[in-house]
Amino acid sequence: MSLKLAIGGKGGVGKTTITSLIARSIAALNKETKVIAIDADPVANLAAGLGIDESKPITPVSELSDLIAERTGATPGTMGGFFTLNPKVDDIPDRFSLEKDGVKLLVMGTVQQGGSGCICPEATILKALMNHLVLARNEVVVMDMEAGVEHLGRATSGSVDALIVVVNPGKRSRVAADKIRKLGHDIGIKNIVVLGNRIKSKEDKKLIQTSMPDYEILGFIPEMEEIIRSDRDGTRPFDDITQIPEELIEITKKLIKLGS
Ligand SMILES: Nc1ncnc2c1ncn2[C@@H]1O[C@H](COP(=O)(O)OP(=O)(O)O)[C@@H](O)[C@H]1O
Ligand SMILES: [Mg+2]
Repeated sequence: MSLKLAIGGKGGVGKTTITSLIARSIAALNKETKVIAIDADPVANLAAGLGIDESKPITPVSELSDLIAERTGATPGTMGGFFTLNPKVDDIPDRFSLEKDGVKLLVMGTVQQGGSGCICPEATILKALMNHLVLARNEVVVMDMEAGVEHLGRATSGSVDALIVVVNPGKRSRVAADKIRKLGHDIGIKNIVVLGNRIKSKEDKKLIQTSMPDYEILGFIPEMEEIIRSDRDGTRPFDDITQIPEELIEITKKLIKLGS
């Protein structure tokens, strides 16, 4: 199955939590499909939610200096000079990811942007890798993005099956959602949907429905004690993924239908 999902939203709304639950849930419902979860937010920590051992630090792709030098023909940290703009990246997802219960985790890392339009080797590798993940792989790719969708470019956006903007029942996350939707539209993502998270009441749901009338709503995820408790303990919520609430199963099924 090919399914490419990007998860965006204001900091703290639940992007990382939802990315890991959706990735695990798709893997559990579709045992034969490969699922890759992409940590593309500098402050994300997807490992915990996926249940991947955090005691061995995962080197982000942007810090694989030797590999970047070998593949681009230029030394990371340098600018200008000659290096290839389409480096080989197709082996990176399998070589540099960690796997647990059918979900692979790939950590992108960040590039220190030197002014505008940095075309340094690190940025070139990350861009080529994002293109490869979205365009070339016949797999499920779930991307935990930063508030913006900077990592996605025009080349890839047409192949993103959905940009899921997470909101909480609060004005600030809705304002952020509008900005993210605009960014998404600008780069050409066609399907942009909203997912309400940390819903405590019918009123919370209604608030999102009435204040975001022109959005397609993918679903609502309740405020859950299980998530709060596992966050406190540093464990993954719903260790037995089949125990996730019905709402999440419905959301996963809707998303699977978008795949091909
Ligand atoms: N449905 C939920 N119920 C309870 N707590 C949640 C829920 N979703 C997220 N959280 C908590 O909210 C906090 C922020 O979530 P996180 O996924 O890190 O957000 P983001 O990645 O958008 O910054 C975490 O402490 C997380 O455990
Ligand atoms: Mg996060």
